[in-house]
Amino acid sequence: MQRDLIIVLDFGGQYNQLIARRVRECSVYAEVHSYTLPLEKIREMNPKGIIFTGGPNSVYDETSPHYTREICSLGIPILGICYGSQLMAWMEGGSVASAPVSEYGHTEVEIDDRADALFKGVSARTAVWMSHTDYIDRVPEGFHITAHTKDCPAAAMSCPERKLYAVQFHPEVMHTKEGQVMLRNFVIHVCGCCGDWKMGSFVEQSVRQLREKIGGGKVLCALSGGVDSSVAAVLLSRAVGRQLTCVFVDHGLLRKNEGDEVEAVFGPNGHYELNFIRVNAQQRYYDRLKGVTDPEEKRKIIGEEFIRIFEEEARKIGAVDYLVQGTIYPDVIESGLGKSAVIKSHHNVGGLPDVVDFKEIIEPLRMLFKDEVRKAGLELGIPEYLVFRQPFPGPGLGVRIVGEITAEKVRIVQDADAIYREEIVKAGLDRTMGQYFAALTNMRSVGVMGDFRTYDYAVALRAVNTSDFMTADAAQIPWEVLARVTNRIVNEVKGVNRVLYDCTGKPPATIEYE
Ligand code: XMP
Repeated sequence: MQRDLIIVLDFGGQYNQLIARRVRECSVYAEVHSYTLPLEKIREMNPKGIIFTGGPNSVYDETSPHYTREICSLGIPILGICYGSQLMAWMEGGSVASAPVSEYGHTEVEIDDRADALFKGVSARTAVWMSHTDYIDRVPEGFHITAHTKDCPAAAMSCPERKLYAVQFHPEVMHTKEGQVMLRNFVIHVCGCCGDWKMGSFVEQSVRQLREKIGGGKVLCALSGGVDSSVAAVLLSRAVGRQLTCVFVDHGLLRKNEGDEVEAVFGPNGHYELNFIRVNAQQRYYDRLKGVTDPEEKRKIIGEEFIRIFEEEARKIGAVDYLVQGTIYPDVIESGLGKSAVIKSHHNVGGLPDVVDFKEIIEPLRMLFKDEVRKAGLELGIPEYLVFRQPFPGPGLGVRIVGEITAEKVRIVQDADAIYREEIVKAGLDRTMGQYFAALTNMRSVGVMGDFRTYDYAVALRAVNTSDFMTADAAQIPWEVLARVTNRIVNEVKGVNRVLYDCTGKPPATIEYE
């Protein structure tokens, strides 16, 4: 039986991902597709409902994204949001004009038809988020106004007989207080979805599909120990067991004990049925990186070396049919909807081997958001400390050591970072921050230890709050925690006589150092 599907038709809105997430929070599966998705394809996909997103354009502008009018007559319920609501009005013969007063931000909306299916259980006056310069100035025939604001006479309209609904505001953003109730009303009560989508069904269904697809073929996975590749590997292991080989490259730029931790979970004494190859390439990396100080050059060498090692291992295994990638949904959406599937380079290595011949790339998590990947990970029994790991860049400590990389510097930053992380966990702050780590500056300075003069490195402590990793603020760690960490680092890590706290946000800095 086909699972319930809501198609989010993207007209260029900035909240397209958010709409899909909110629908999934109602336990209904949603996919975002470009407005270029043909009507025929929509029919084939047989969705229970469609949501038109917002967008920056004006429906009267011929170059704006439009859709064939027929979509409103398929008998499939539609909810238009912002530009999507104007588009619906325009397609159905209503009229849209430039509003005398644009609305932006918090606005109070008054519900005129509280019996309307979309507003079931919603307060008579409720706070919504507006962002528009055009508005519907005449609703199409057969529609009636269901809500208004001070400056927008048709803030919502509907034609219940045809299950067509539209709202000028954004129910998907947090600032619309009862937006989730409205979206739930649409997907459950209007579209008739059962709300039974959960990670368990994703895992079961994926395992079944992967088995069918792979048959008796061989599968290769580059395992970094990060959340996405770990979840992808365990899913594949559940599906095809020992047909899967995971290659884990220890490039000597991992956090303290990380190589052993990954091996303990995925290796021969670990929890899963799969073949595990650990390549200890520390020295090989240090040799290649000797004397290199340019950040981009360092990144390039680390990435290229990974590919070379990966290719060597793939050749040894021979005749690999499939390569597994941990691509997730935001990567897919950001790579551009509407184009043919883009094969994303592995986000942890920066490229794919091109001499190794794979029949196909498998991306089992490509339709999941990060929090959903985590849920799938828990569902699959992956230990919590792995599932909730903070992000760690593919080039590893290579981008946290400013200047030339040496084994000695790696030891210093690993030890300092381990102390920092341990104290942050002890202080109960670990889940409160987006990312926190120690970096090694290339600065040496004079200090005094006992009766001796020292000339040692300065370690920088970094901690940021961020939700998207595109912008970030420095986290305000309590002074006593910083003092404890500092004290321990200078006492326990040989080669460090100074600890600095990085107060810079992004921009102007980046989160990592190189
Ligand atoms: P920046 O330093 O660009 O980092 O502010 C933003 C986020 O991306 C992570 N990062 C990387 N992740 N490969 C990765 O897989 C990389 O080369 C890489 N560089 C940065 C960084 O840890 C932060 O979460």
